[in-house]
Amino acid sequence: SIHPVVLCGGSGTRLWPLSRKALPKQFAPLVDGKSLLQLSLARLSQWGTPVTCIGAEDHRFLLQESMESIGIPGRQILEPLARGTAAAVAVAALLAAPDDILLLAPADHHIPDTELFGRTVAQGLDAAAAGYLVTFGVTPTFPSTGYGYIEPGESLADKAGIASGHLVAHFHEKPNLIEAQRMLLQGGMLWNSGILLAQAQALIDALETWAPDILATCRRATADCKLDGSFLRIDRAAFESCRSESIDYAVLEKHSKTAVVPFSGAWSDVGSWGAVAAMHESDKDGNRLSGKATVLDARNTFVHAPLRPVVALGTEDLVIVDTQDAVLVAHVDSLEQVKEVVGLLTRSG
Ligand code: GDD
Ligand code: MG
Repeated sequence: SIHPVVLCGGSGTRLWPLSRKALPKQFAPLVDGKSLLQLSLARLSQWGTPVTCIGAEDHRFLLQESMESIGIPGRQILEPLARGTAAAVAVAALLAAPDDILLLAPADHHIPDTELFGRTVAQGLDAAAAGYLVTFGVTPTFPSTGYGYIEPGESLADKAGIASGHLVAHFHEKPNLIEAQRMLLQGGMLWNSGILLAQAQALIDALETWAPDILATCRRATADCKLDGSFLRIDRAAFESCRSESIDYAVLEKHSKTAVVPFSGAWSDVGSWGAVAAMHESDKDGNRLSGKATVLDARNTFVHAPLRPVVALGTEDLVIVDTQDAVLVAHVDSLEQVKEVVGLLTRSG
């Protein structure tokens, strides 16, 4: 059976002012009052097995409440500080049974077709059971520099008699723009969705080969882990000394037994306000509204107004986000720079 593990440790600064230190984007109500984490949990509950969330100790009650709010049994692994996804994956694998098949999934993705997602994951099961680290690939639509790229190689049917999936011929994490354009032109390349299906023991073996220091540190940090209610706490002193790297750079780029299964449904990493806007239905003038928003004579305007009426009049190519204590007004072409604003505000106190 499949054991979902949700990676919940990111900070999401491009979604300021909704995403804050105290309430990072995965916990913020974004879609019809639901958070991305709640939507992810609902999607990952389809196998009927308990779900594990791994995230910051500071957010333990947010993690717990999110799971309770959609009635999902499970546990929360609490990181005393963030050490990147390689460490998070190592910890999750060490705290699982060796032959558990883990489905590691980010908390902040939007995948509307739950059923297709479920069928696609099922296609990766044979490869995962045979010890492959199975990634899921999405057909790219633009030369993104924020994603990893996968070039599928030999089919697993030819290589190992496994019905679905291909070996990864080449994995290229976060290319520069020129490389991204070249890979898009080359054709046949897929975006790494960031979702990983693998046996716990296969993950541990791969970490042993490519990042033995991270694995050893995580072994020490989880040696005395005991359930406290639904919480599992990682030892701070040991975990602090862990090297911070992503699982993509630490393992996936290098490992030979990495496979890919294509996912043909809609998928997005909800990283910026542009991606949030795209999740809302647009009117005939390209306006997208949520909550108490109204527009008049406006074009291509997105307004997020959960708390009070917000009116945009005669606007064009604008994003307006209203929250309790801060408002963002941004041109649609400047949305990637929102994270710089956060730095600016932090410095000026
Ligand atoms: N528990 C925990 N601890 N979770 C973490 C940590 C950590 O230290 N750091 C990040 N995460 C979580 C984030 O919350 C997110 O859900 C997921 O791990 C991926 O981290 P990101 O920081 O969002 O990665 P990325 O978007 O830059 O890149 C990854 O995802 C892309 C697709 O969205 C890579 O896997 C790319 O190759 C991929 O294309
Ligand atoms: Mg991401």
